[in-house]
Amino acid sequence: MRILLKGGHVIDPSQGIDGPMDLLIRDDRIEKLEPDITDEADEVTDVSGCYVVPGLIDMHVHLREPGFEHKETIKTGSMAAARGGFTSICPMPNTKPVIDSPEMVRFVREKAEKEAVVHILPVGAVTKGQMGIEPADITGMVQAGAAAISEDGKSVMNTEVYRQAMVLAKEAHIPVLDHCEDKYLVKDGALNAGPAAERIGVTGISNGVEDIITARDILLAKETGCRLHLCHCSTKDSVRMVREAREDGLAVSAEVCPHHFTLTEDDIPGDDANYKMNPPLRSEADKEALIEGLCSDVMQVISTDHAPHHADEKAKGIGKAPFGIVGLETSVALTMTALVHTGKMTPTQMVEHMSTVPAKILGIDKGSLKPGKMADITVIDPEAEYTIDKETFVSKGKNTPFDGWKVKGRVTRTIVAGKCVYEYR
Ligand code: DOR
Ligand code: ZN
Ligand code: ZN
Repeated sequence: MRILLKGGHVIDPSQGIDGPMDLLIRDDRIEKLEPDITDEADEVTDVSGCYVVPGLIDMHVHLREPGFEHKETIKTGSMAAARGGFTSICPMPNTKPVIDSPEMVRFVREKAEKEAVVHILPVGAVTKGQMGIEPADITGMVQAGAAAISEDGKSVMNTEVYRQAMVLAKEAHIPVLDHCEDKYLVKDGALNAGPAAERIGVTGISNGVEDIITARDILLAKETGCRLHLCHCSTKDSVRMVREAREDGLAVSAEVCPHHFTLTEDDIPGDDANYKMNPPLRSEADKEALIEGLCSDVMQVISTDHAPHHADEKAKGIGKAPFGIVGLETSVALTMTALVHTGKMTPTQMVEHMSTVPAKILGIDKGSLKPGKMADITVIDPEAEYTIDKETFVSKGKNTPFDGWKVKGRVTRTIVAGKCVYEYR
């Protein structure tokens, strides 16, 4: 089977390509990437006016299976990923039971093998049951196919336990995906410590809740030599600390989620839990620092923290609803609209942040359109304008603050291992 994508604008930072190019796929591989391909093909697709980029990789999603299938499943989450332009996603282990053993990693992989339409790279827990008491079988999970470890949803508060886990992660050559939140400082906080929390009457979450653990974990990474990837950074001091760590030559990387670079606490209209996520929406100064960090490549990754919840759970109001919003189906449009079309970030940087760098951090042979590589490809129409409508989401979760937003930039085709798994019609 040969598919020819003709007339597109190829952006592939791994080869320094940013210009018109045809791309020929043969079975599950990229066969040719050249200015004018005239080879015979079973299918020729006109992608003129569109970006053709290496398949996007989301290092941070929640697929909720096993245990919370009413929120999302590996199958529905993978379909949402395909619609959002993602060809590989990393599901976090805070399921029920927790993904904390080689058996559970195999469960996710086997389920994904049967039902998922994109590549699923499972993340194992740092500690058994995510209880924070003793490290999980990290070596065994990596042998079973875990791509990384994370305690996402909370921090490992016992510094010695975390240190031991970092040593094991280093030995297994995988990164640690770090959720930074001091359990004792956060109390029952629901929104940023600021005007919105006061107005709505909920407990505030200070920047220190995140910053204190970020500082600790960077120091631990320095001591252990492990690769540390900071999840969903939300504060200006986290940007500063990442910059300093990288200047010091540490193997520290960091991600920012679209909601943190498009919204602040001032955008929270009232008691609407679609604006509640962890870490929370912060101040204008924090948002500006995150944008500056992303556009100067200090913060090298855009991830979604796709966190589907059922409408009934989100209807409980900001005080009682669970944290999290969906992100897979809005990430490209929000990034294009807020950062690329405003001239703050180049299209090449967007591809680096959403594919090239995530592949590098995960140490996987992806994020490139070089001939011979697996044909994971995303096609984006940068000029398409539309209104986000949560009813069109294929995710089970409709919990988004972006419903009704006018955006520019649409995923029109997602190809996984040479197979078209999503096409906009
Ligand atoms: O908003 C969030 N949702 N933040 C987290 O840390 C966990 C996640 C979830 O699992 O829902
Ligand atoms: Zn988290
Ligand atoms: Zn998360």
